[in-house]
Amino acid sequence: MEALLFDFLKVTELAAIASKPWVGSGDKIAADDAATTAMRRQLNAMNMQGTIVIGEGEIDEAPMLYIGENVGTGRGGPAIDIAVDPIEGTTPTVNGQPNAITVIAAAPKGTLLHAPDMYMKKLAVGPRAKGKINIEASLEDNMIAVAKAQNKKISDLTVFIQQRPRHQEYIDEIRDIGANVHLFNDGDVIYATSTCMEDLNIDMFFGIGGAPEGVLGAVAVRCLGGEMQAKLIPRNETEIERCLEMGITNPNEALSHSQLVQTDECIFAATGITANLFLNGIKTGNGNYLTHSILVNGKDQQLHYIESMHQILETA
Ligand code: FBP
Repeated sequence: MEALLFDFLKVTELAAIASKPWVGSGDKIAADDAATTAMRRQLNAMNMQGTIVIGEGEIDEAPMLYIGENVGTGRGGPAIDIAVDPIEGTTPTVNGQPNAITVIAAAPKGTLLHAPDMYMKKLAVGPRAKGKINIEASLEDNMIAVAKAQNKKISDLTVFIQQRPRHQEYIDEIRDIGANVHLFNDGDVIYATSTCMEDLNIDMFFGIGGAPEGVLGAVAVRCLGGEMQAKLIPRNETEIERCLEMGITNPNEALSHSQLVQTDECIFAATGITANLFLNGIKTGNGNYLTHSILVNGKDQQLHYIESMHQILETA
């Protein structure tokens, strides 16, 4: 699988390039369609037997990169589970706002959680606090444990949470305990990943967001030596059924990092569409696209920041 590392990078770079004309356009469907088409084309050129486990939706609702779709040439190569979000942050993309990326994660077949498209509670921390968190415990207990692991006072802790009405109780609680809450509008894969980047000084990521984004974030955090735990939040019988169909026998149980992604043999790549905390957005000029990406392989946990220049090819 390691041999495919740079092919995965190319997948997110090309999807970001395809999405660029739609930045600021207001057209979410066209943006997503362009990124998904580019991503699928590149995946199908790769020598692997890939299966989409996190994708654009079910076969009946997504024509491309649907859950269960086989990708790759199929002529040999490793059998791989693939999680994609051609655009993580469609709203910021089409509004020309920060925090839109295109993202992929890959791991050997059978090692990624097949998460349904529903909400998931997530808690992520960087390497120093690995082994110290428990999503079933109170926020206060987790914050005390993380502060101790980081050798900080609670008042120096920074917790990132998505700005949503459903999080108001958590926001109030964290501030009452004495820590600092930073709010973001979209893109929780970015913030889960950011907890593992020491220079960013993000001690904890917490909140309820999409389960597919949860698995993508879990791969990034695993690749970077941190820890993520999660819990699916099925809101009705249909969502419970969906979990059972996807092999999750107890939809209400807390999911350990190893249940989200079972192995260190995983790959994560993301390319900025618009800028975020650690990536520049895609730039154009002089007939070229300049992309900025991260690429990391869980085996060596080496984080690569990659800037690539791509020549614009006119298409008929
Ligand atoms: P999209 O790529 O679908 O726009 O998702 C962006 C996102 O902010 C995710 O990062 C997050 O998990 C999810 O939306 C939260 O969902 P909601 O917008 O319903 O609160």
